[in-house]
Amino acid sequence: MDVSEALRTRHSTRSFSARPVPDDVIEAILLDAREAPSWSNTQPWRVAVATGATCDALRQDFIAASQTRLPTPDVNQLFTYPPGLQARRRETGFGLYETLGIAKADSEARTRQFERNHAMFDAPAAVFLFAHQAMAEYAVLDAGCFLMAMLLSATSHGVQSCAQAVLASYPDLVRARYDVGDEWRLLCGVALGYEDGHVVNTFRPARAPLSDIVLARR
Ligand SMILES: Cc1cc2nc3c(=O)[nH]c(=O)nc-3n(C[C@H](O)[C@H](O)[C@H](O)COP(=O)(O)O)c2cc1C
Repeated sequence: MDVSEALRTRHSTRSFSARPVPDDVIEAILLDAREAPSWSNTQPWRVAVATGATCDALRQDFIAASQTRLPTPDVNQLFTYPPGLQARRRETGFGLYETLGIAKADSEARTRQFERNHAMFDAPAAVFLFAHQAMAEYAVLDAGCFLMAMLLSATSHGVQSCAQAVLASYPDLVRARYDVGDEWRLLCGVALGYEDGHVVNTFRPARAPLSDIVLARR
């Protein structure tokens, strides 16, 4: 699979089967991802890999935390969206709910679907991605390169994924199980596994036309 095909094949999976991802496949994906470029090759990222019982335990931790306390992310997750971005966000959200047959007015069903995030959509593996706080936005940019490399490599290895900012809501849960210092900021988790036949996995949100992205030349 070439990069173009991986880019066009990758999509967010929100319902996984129980089939585990073999350790050597996860390692191959991370070996690919570490090839990502970064500012002065500082590689200002860290990952915590959760599989098997650890992944299941973290899943339960996230579900419990989401039911009992407010998120305390390392990075801001509350934005005031400008109208153009808010429109895309709403369209994507409603598109997902439409795929699931959830009516716009059914806020309970929407909440239930949102809560599937904390269960990592039942993925058998998750990778938690950190960026070093000393390099501010550039560490986040570099970690974004790492993230994309990981998602594309997963695709080429036949593994499905979903990047999840929701899994950065309670960094203390991840810190409790991994030795990661406070200088590392948790950006997101990535659910990894094999998608099942659930209709949610057919959702493909549209992209803006190039004319909306590329600035006109003057
Ligand atoms: C940094 C990042 C965080 C995301 N967080 C979530 C999340 O918490 N929950 C979720 O269901 N999807 C999440 N997504 C997936 C996006 O919703 C998805 O990438 C976007 O709608 C485009 O769809 P596609 O990935 O299927 O192409 C996230 C994606 C990125 C890149």
